[in-house]
Amino acid sequence: MLSIEKYQQEFIQFLEHYSAVKEPKNLYEPISYILDLGGKRLRPVLTLMTADIFNGGYKKSLNAALSIEVFHNFSLVHDDIMDDAPLRRGQTTVHEKWDVNTGILSGDAMLIMAYQLFENYEAHIFQDLAKLFSKTALEVCEGQQYDVDFETRNDVTIPEYLKMIEYKTAVLVGAAMKMGAIVAEASKADQENIYEFGRHLGIAFQLQDDYLDAFGDPKTFGKQVGGDIIENKKTYLYLKALEFLNQSDQESLIKLFSSDINDVNAKIEQAKEYFVNSGSANATKEAIQLYTNEAFSVLESLNISEDKKELLRTFGNGLMNRTV
Ligand code: IPE
Ligand code: IPE
Ligand code: MG
Ligand code: MG
Ligand code: MG
Repeated sequence: MLSIEKYQQEFIQFLEHYSAVKEPKNLYEPISYILDLGGKRLRPVLTLMTADIFNGGYKKSLNAALSIEVFHNFSLVHDDIMDDAPLRRGQTTVHEKWDVNTGILSGDAMLIMAYQLFENYEAHIFQDLAKLFSKTALEVCEGQQYDVDFETRNDVTIPEYLKMIEYKTAVLVGAAMKMGAIVAEASKADQENIYEFGRHLGIAFQLQDDYLDAFGDPKTFGKQVGGDIIENKKTYLYLKALEFLNQSDQESLIKLFSSDINDVNAKIEQAKEYFVNSGSANATKEAIQLYTNEAFSVLESLNISEDKKELLRTFGNGLMNRTV
């Protein structure tokens, strides 16, 4: 096994050979731009780590890891259009640097490029990877649609929210790990267990993303802080605040999240006050811990050595303490 940093370095080195700009430039330049912007690279690192955990050798999983990262970046390009987001990883988003049509088509190309990377595997592994990829990619679309539908609903429940984040985010984290297990030809039981570990970690990860969207430091976060509040996103912060507030504050919060408000800074400040004072900010932190612990308890059912489990715990705890 390598260290988390070393897996990241190995992945970045592999990526460097991949993202060369071809003609037409207006299709491929945005693709190189987004892939080279950086990011945490957590999904490909999980693929490589998992391949090693099941003794498959991480090198064999580099193409699967790249596929996951290209798909993830495709989803970000389209997500930023849908969320009207100006900033990604501290830089201008693709649709703002170029235009919306460029974002749509470059994103489409990336989705196909992600799938194409499976051609590097033998038939039986290709088939398992492709099957998992198609299922996961469709679930991500479903999650993204729920996310958008919820913007204009004011009766979203916590179970609905949890299903939404499971689909838009967590299944891809699970799939990243399962792909490492598939390439390593791990047993079906191990493949399922590692998927479950990733899925729980992914739920904690999206809860943390929602928390940072409101309370992150604009200097380090890399995205527009308060973006979810501007877009009336029905996050855990919002839903728990509604649960905890008295009726008159509930009505004010619903009103704050139901209209296009001109003074967005005042809207953000107001919403954050509700999140802190109601106790929903703390409840969100607790939920992040809870889902991370659930992921850790899945590790019990895995037939791997204690030091491998420890590496996965270190990874999970690192995610919980992140600022980006
Ligand atoms: C952003 O993912 C989208 C979510 C699912 C929250 P990351 O936070 O992993 O983004 P990068 O790749 O590190 O920029
Ligand atoms: C991310 O949800 C889900 C996908 C990109 C599929 P968000 O909209 O919260 O992601 P960020 O915060 O823009 O990275
Ligand atoms: Mg977004
Ligand atoms: Mg979104
Ligand atoms: Mg977000």
